[in-house]
Amino acid sequence: MTVAIRCRGIKKTYGNDENKVEALKSTDLDINFGQLTLIVGPSGSGKTTLISIIATILTPDEGELILLDRQMNGLSGNEKALFRCKHIGFVFQSLFLIPSLSIVENVALPLIVAGMHEKLAIVKAMEMLEKVHLAHRANEPPTKLSKGQQQRVAIVRAMINDAEIIICDEPTSSLDHTSGFEIMEFLHTLAKNSTKAVVVVTHDPRIFSYADHIIPMSDGELTMQEAVHEQKLL
Ligand SMILES: Nc1ncnc2c1ncn2[C@@H]1O[C@H](COP(=O)(O)OP(=O)(O)OP(=O)(O)O)[C@@H](O)[C@H]1O
Ligand SMILES: [Mg+2]
Repeated sequence: MTVAIRCRGIKKTYGNDENKVEALKSTDLDINFGQLTLIVGPSGSGKTTLISIIATILTPDEGELILLDRQMNGLSGNEKALFRCKHIGFVFQSLFLIPSLSIVENVALPLIVAGMHEKLAIVKAMEMLEKVHLAHRANEPPTKLSKGQQQRVAIVRAMINDAEIIICDEPTSSLDHTSGFEIMEFLHTLAKNSTKAVVVVTHDPRIFSYADHIIPMSDGELTMQEAVHEQKLL
């Protein structure tokens, strides 16, 4: 199995009649294991809509979504939630850290939800926080961290359950140069593991060089799909 994510004829429209927005026109896309794919494009071009559909958070109006060789169409809400919990790590554009939990509890949460003993989950969450240099802030609430630090917490929370598919919406937008590169290095190393596929939405040209593929989007459509290493040869 080399294809992790397969979209065929995926479409999404919001609203109706005069408020209708065709957010995603018929979209075909394959994303392989072992690759870091960037989705880039102007605001409103449909990037969050596309990755929310891939993450099974949003249901398309039409089309077929196959993840890890499993057909997602027709799964119930509960079945999708179970699949997500095991196989998908998602970093939302608005992060969604839980303010009443400490940073380490936020990171441990997916493991606890999946049934791991709390103490072990906290140990594993501490290991992840060390990787992004935030272990010393572990017991503080997320509200005490900068936006960039909160982004790093959301990213390690998405990775902690060792999901095969990692999807991040603008993970470096609030990070300074060094932290942004560190996070991309982290995501890139993760994608090199051939059992994972990493998809990142970004406006940030500083991180383009980390990608195996860059997929530009415009007005609800993928405009091309090109291997970055081929671009570098030109
Ligand atoms: N819940 C919603 N209801 C109605 N329209 C929506 C909704 N979500 C998104 N849209 C519209 O769909 C289009 C695509 O939105 P989307 O959020 O996917 O864009 P984006 O590329 O992620 O933008 P950004 O870079 O600003 O995050 C936009 O025109 C947006 O206004
Ligand atoms: Mg968006």
